Amino acid sequence: DVMLTEKGFVQKEELTYPFEERGLQFGDGVYEVIRIYEGRYYLLKEHVERLYRSMAAIKIYPPFSEADLYDYLDQLLKKNGVVSDAKLYLQVTRGSAPRNHEFPLNTGANLYAYVKDFSRNTDLMRNGINTITLEDIRWEWCYIKSLNLLPNVIAKQEAKENDAQEAILHKNGLVTEGSSSNAYLVRNGKVYTHPATKRILGGCVRMKIEELCNRHQIPFIEEAFQVEDIAYADEVFMTSSTAEILPVLKVDTVTVGDGEPGRITRELQRLYEEDAG
Ligand code: PDD
Repeated sequence: DVMLTEKGFVQKEELTYPFEERGLQFGDGVYEVIRIYEGRYYLLKEHVERLYRSMAAIKIYPPFSEADLYDYLDQLLKKNGVVSDAKLYLQVTRGSAPRNHEFPLNTGANLYAYVKDFSRNTDLMRNGINTITLEDIRWEWCYIKSLNLLPNVIAKQEAKENDAQEAILHKNGLVTEGSSSNAYLVRNGKVYTHPATKRILGGCVRMKIEELCNRHQIPFIEEAFQVEDIAYADEVFMTSSTAEILPVLKVDTVTVGDGEPGRITRELQRLYEEDAG
């Protein structure tokens, strides 16, 4: 069979990606991005547990056990000789099968994972970012770390085109999260963030932020805030495995607090670094 591809016409056998792969054709799969600091996984258990929750939510039954997965991830670091800062990308799809919307029978899930050197973007952590707000047009199951990232990709690009580094998403004015991060507002020493419902991705860093707040007597309040509340915020920050903790200096045209990274944000950055290091 001859196929048309990005390299022109090729024999099907010469394809360099899987033929009729459900991740590619339907976005029918889930993924994780995991940080590695000095050759060691950070928050690994949290990521693996979320991966299993995502798979269960879309009825992907992996042909590997959790113990197998830990073993594969361990081997991947060893085979690549990773000893410094890196990130791991991992995706599980429903597998390769003739294209039909319904789940294929007797097809095993596909697991792909790779590690890549990745340095911390300390500039953004120190200096903060600008953001824009956008209506959250995603579906109702954002707690699943789905491969379907089209709304997220479009939101991030919209931010970039407006000289911002992240988009803050809201449903009718209520802030859910960022295009690839969780969002927090600080007021009077208290940290507010959207509750970990199905409407947001329960971030692994978010879990760590909650733990650090609890351990250091910083009230952590799972209560969604409004875009309008940002005008009265002392601080706003965003978190993700890759970005860690980023102070937000501007939201649309509104300057957050005094326009400098805030005290609580700084404190959480310090505690996070201590925990990860
Ligand atoms: N994204 N919300 C969304 C929509 C995300 O895509 C991410 C992470 C987060 C933060 O999750 P965590 O703290 O577990 O990294 C929240 C990853 C980094 C990505 O897509 O590259």
